[in-house]
Amino acid sequence: MQVTEIKKDIYWVGAVDWNIRDFHGYSTYKGTTYNAFLMLDDKNVLFDTVKKNYRSDLQHRIRTVMDPEKIDYIVVNHVEMDHSGCLPEMIDLIKPEKVICSKMGKKNLIDHFHREDWPYHVVEPGETISTGKRSITFLETRMLHWPDSMFSYIPEEKLLISSDAFGQHFATSERFDVEVDQTDLMYQAAKYYANILTLYSPLVRKVLKQVADMGIEIDMIAPDHGLIWKDPAKILKAYDNWSHHRGTRKALVIYDTMWHSTEMMAHAVADGIISEDVSVEVLNLKYNHRSEIMAQVLDAKAIVLGCPTLNNGMLPRMAGFLMYMRGLRPTNKIGAAFGSYGWSGESVKLLNKSMEEMKFDIIDDGLRVKYVPRHDTLKECVELGKRVGKAVKEALKTQ
Ligand code: FEO
Repeated sequence: MQVTEIKKDIYWVGAVDWNIRDFHGYSTYKGTTYNAFLMLDDKNVLFDTVKKNYRSDLQHRIRTVMDPEKIDYIVVNHVEMDHSGCLPEMIDLIKPEKVICSKMGKKNLIDHFHREDWPYHVVEPGETISTGKRSITFLETRMLHWPDSMFSYIPEEKLLISSDAFGQHFATSERFDVEVDQTDLMYQAAKYYANILTLYSPLVRKVLKQVADMGIEIDMIAPDHGLIWKDPAKILKAYDNWSHHRGTRKALVIYDTMWHSTEMMAHAVADGIISEDVSVEVLNLKYNHRSEIMAQVLDAKAIVLGCPTLNNGMLPRMAGFLMYMRGLRPTNKIGAAFGSYGWSGESVKLLNKSMEEMKFDIIDDGLRVKYVPRHDTLKECVELGKRVGKAVKEALKTQ
């Protein structure tokens, strides 16, 4: 099977999953890859494995380079099953001298596979081990993406193997960032950050600072998903930007509708935002997947939510979206709400409450319209949109 030599004697030996379309509720319409890397040295090292059902891809690729039995160390940068699912079979095959992991990695491996007898070698944050001509320094990166996560840095190659961080769910025949369409690549990287790492942004900032403070040189970042970065500055800069939740001159109108009244309001609110020369995306929850919307939330400065009242509450698609967004904890957003109702009309209050919990800056009490909006009430929606647009411009002055 095809392998890719990413650095002299360091090979990509992972698997491409062309078919996956859902990753814990994240829509992966481009599929993904499970990257694993094999480094040949006096001690041969396998960095991470792949999802259980891709074990044979990994084994065939390793055999293209060398006998698996000649691997000395397996490094487990992250225990989640997409990277460790076939670890028991690989350990049986390889019989490694060491399974290298973080302290929490050992605990989590035992909790997953119930094997206390594996040859664990726990590394401390910042510890360096020699493999012969090269060395590996382990950086603790707790919660990027799990408590067990760590990076492996090979200084002699200026190579950072970064586990989940800097990844993209993006199945391609290419292996390097420079070989694919850059708009596609950065969209998939942003979507990945938005849906997986947004809530860990303070830790992302800490890791970026740690790497900068260490003064280590990086000329390649090899994540466990998607393309390998030959241009690491590009993704490091993007992560710095995303992790600060910096908004741009952009607002989202996210809504669901029952008999199109709230939809009419959504379009009028959007018109008001546009009239303030602020970019807007109008996103009907029926047609836009929550994970695509989160990719837009990443750089939007304002979030305007619209939903009619149903049974003293809101429509289930909006409730589900709010649950998803709240878990990811986007910050520094301006918020506003609107919705139609028939008799009780609680939805706007509930939307505001949810945005308050996310600490959005709510700039308006919100607009409610009974049954079907009239021309005058649509004008009020336009005015609400203008207030949102003005607030975006004002907030960007001080950002
Ligand atoms: Fe790709 Fe957190 O696993």
